[in-house]
Amino acid sequence: MAIERTLSIIKPDAVAKNVIGQIYSRFETAGLKIVAARMVQLSRAEAEGFYAVHSARPFFNDLVTFMISGPVMVSALEGDNAVLAHRDLMGATDPKKAEKGTIRADFADSIDANAVHGSDAVEAAAIEIAYFFPALSVYSR
Ligand code: TYD
Repeated sequence: MAIERTLSIIKPDAVAKNVIGQIYSRFETAGLKIVAARMVQLSRAEAEGFYAVHSARPFFNDLVTFMISGPVMVSALEGDNAVLAHRDLMGATDPKKAEKGTIRADFADSIDANAVHGSDAVEAAAIEIAYFFPALSVYSR
């Protein structure tokens, strides 16, 4: 049976805090398997392309500038209901509102430096996985 995949990005603030391993450990403990990974320094054009859906939002430029401020760890995660399972582990966008024990509650400092990105729907995951891992589809075969 096909298993769902999602895209995870550990953002520059969390990479700088040296917590990639702790975040990966949460994925693994929750039953999500890391099936692809790349550490990358995004160019401005790559970050703008990735966040194109937000291009009209007031925070777009600051978001792109933050995302290129240092390397990011991009991974594809696979597991039952991977998109939702990953979003649950991440917590709310604003770490002040994130539930205790979530990645953002524990590692993020603010809404704009919030440690992690995760696809918010299977349709988004398909686009985002293809953006970084062209050979990988949103479902395992
Ligand atoms: P969004 O897709 O709303 O959140 P999420 O990452 O939880 O899916 O927003 C994308 C990113 O944009 C978010 O992680 C951080 C940034 N952002 C801000 O800087 N300010 C804001 O007010 C919002 C809503 C988002």
